[in-house]
Amino acid sequence: MRPIEQRAILAYWKQFREEPLLVASAPGRVNLIGEHTDYNGGFVLPCAIDRRVAVAVGNGGGQLYSANFREISPLLDGREGSWADYPSGVAWAMREQGYEIPLFRGAFVGDVPPGSGLSSSAAIEAATALALDACFQLGVSRKDLALMCQRAENAFVGVQSGIMDQYASLLCREGSALCIDCRSLEAEPVPLSLVETGLSLFICDTQVARELGATGYNDRRETCERAASRLGIRTLRDAGMKDLEKLSGEECRRARHVITENVRVLEAVKTLRVQDLAAFGRLMIASHRSLRDDYAVSTPELDTFVDVAVQFGALGARLTGAGFGGCALALIKQEDVQALSKIVLQHFKARGFRQPVLFVLQPAAGAEVGT
Ligand code: GLA
Repeated sequence: MRPIEQRAILAYWKQFREEPLLVASAPGRVNLIGEHTDYNGGFVLPCAIDRRVAVAVGNGGGQLYSANFREISPLLDGREGSWADYPSGVAWAMREQGYEIPLFRGAFVGDVPPGSGLSSSAAIEAATALALDACFQLGVSRKDLALMCQRAENAFVGVQSGIMDQYASLLCREGSALCIDCRSLEAEPVPLSLVETGLSLFICDTQVARELGATGYNDRRETCERAASRLGIRTLRDAGMKDLEKLSGEECRRARHVITENVRVLEAVKTLRVQDLAAFGRLMIASHRSLRDDYAVSTPELDTFVDVAVQFGALGARLTGAGFGGCALALIKQEDVQALSKIVLQHFKARGFRQPVLFVLQPAAGAEVGT
């Protein structure tokens, strides 16, 4: 059992004075490439990370406890704007699908930095869904659990996110990224040989909070839907470069990002399969430029990190997640971690930015029931 799962069991015991029935945990994710493509029916390539949310669950009570916030909440019937929305939303979505979820208690502990683009919310949702599935022996597939988590996020929490984060958290495997076709929902593991190639996933959390609901996320999604309907297609997945002639202004730029990003993801999968990490890195850089210029979701902090990392000699760098703040990712040699950290801190200071948090992530396993 992982230390974080043990901490959830302890939190449950301290709070409710009894043993939980079981513990489950689910990871956050870092998206390697394929940004803002999921809700356009396109391709994404995330991998699960070694930061997780664990939940210990037991029967009765209808109470939720967060060890991070040291806060107890009832299981909610409707959105409240707090962490409790996520587990409550999952229970709500599972009941809505006809699953019988008796009253339960849950104690949560997590170490995915919240609001940074590493999917702490999907990790809470996925851990809750898997725990409830195991606890009440529902026998739901991982894929259907992910869809119910997404429904919770869309209809209960109120963010129109795509399927990437919940899918990654529930379906990723250790040592692999996951290429998801967000239309067919087919997902294929792609080997991610970082240790073997001496590379690290270096993260810069810009400390600029990224409130998905309060930013342009839903707005970007609507623009894409408008562009697709103008082209007479279901989603921008079906658009090609020629279609851009029929669009103008924002719709054209947003669509261009989606079209080119889908191509980049499929290329990226090929490069990983042959361990051509240099080519993979170039695709990351192109992805960032497209997110910055066409999709307009970058920030001065994210751009600074990417520029500094690339000048330093990173194979690739890009913002990861929705953008508007949060994290960026660079692919660098393991031995360069210290040196790049120093340079990034200097640049951020010189530009008067908030001090970023810099760390290395390891690809990790998807959601699991603790044993
Ligand atoms: C957020 C959403 C995802 C995806 C990304 C952008 O993380 O939750 O569904 O749309 O933004 O790629």
